[in-house]
Amino acid sequence: MSKERVLTGIRPTGFLHLGNYFGATRNFLQMQQAYDCYVFVADWHSLTTHPDTKELQNSVRRVVAENIACGLNPDEITLYVQSDVPEISELYLYLNMLAYKGELEKTTTFKEKVRQHPDNVNAGLLTYPVLQAADILIHRAGKVPVGKDQEQHLEMARNFAQRFNFRYGAGEEILPEPQAFNYSGGELIKILSLDGNGKMSKSENAMNTIYLCDEADLLRKKIMKAKTDQGPAEPNSPKPDYIENLFTLMKLVSSADTVAKFETDYNNSSTGNVVIRYGDMKKQLAEDMVNFLQPIREKTNELLNNPEALGKVMQAGKDKARASAAETIRMVREAVGVKYY
Ligand code: TRP
Repeated sequence: MSKERVLTGIRPTGFLHLGNYFGATRNFLQMQQAYDCYVFVADWHSLTTHPDTKELQNSVRRVVAENIACGLNPDEITLYVQSDVPEISELYLYLNMLAYKGELEKTTTFKEKVRQHPDNVNAGLLTYPVLQAADILIHRAGKVPVGKDQEQHLEMARNFAQRFNFRYGAGEEILPEPQAFNYSGGELIKILSLDGNGKMSKSENAMNTIYLCDEADLLRKKIMKAKTDQGPAEPNSPKPDYIENLFTLMKLVSSADTVAKFETDYNNSSTGNVVIRYGDMKKQLAEDMVNFLQPIREKTNELLNNPEALGKVMQAGKDKARASAAETIRMVREAVGVKYY
């Protein structure tokens, strides 16, 4: 039986941080064997908001390297760069004929971007969801793991697929409608910014975000500065979210014994009898975080220092991705009717 195909795209903007890792990357790692996985770097998408391409090459290499360092196995899955697959842009063109200006203007992410960059409202930004639909439909992927912010894009991809099939398919499903992938069983882990203000991904301040490739000393400095308080007023108090966040991080990178010790200290603490020492807790968390991230950082740097080897990996990914994309484009062209000999 062939495996179900799951696809996801990553925009090459910035370094991977812990929120990305525990929120998305790690879940994907668990799917590599069970599914036919397609993971790509959405470099064309980044052009919609990043007109300056000076950093593009570095960013794209970094995303590929970091994901491999985290455990994505390019021999097992199809890992590629979007711009290496020109078939995507052709499908984007056909889908653009089926996407209406009105619905594109109503898209939440578009309205948000217009607000952020009123001086750069380009057509690529407007048709971002069409390109995303092309990314998915080009491999006829059945499932896409999506966070809340991407649900609308996935729904639009379903609409475009449906319209395509209706207009060109003559009753046949040329492009299957992709569904959201929900990680069964795995609870979703939310990591907050170290100052307790919102999600780690939303953090404005790099000092409140833990990047996978932060050097050991920087990691220590960031964690030691994380927000804490005087300690709980009563035994067994509920934890404020910034304290809960430290425990969340500890559960992810420290031993169960360590977590249990600090949990007990917390629960036994009250005003006048504060047993828990946040300084000690953060010191322990920092060391465990350093040990957890060290192999990822080393592997990333090893890959980045060998652009030739990294290039080979990307080329192999491109070949696999194009084989699948070419097959879809052949069906699409035939369905549309652009086939003259
Ligand atoms: N829009 C997605 C994001 O901002 C990235 C993306 C592009 C994507 N193409 C995709 C995700 C296709 C899933 C499937 O994160």
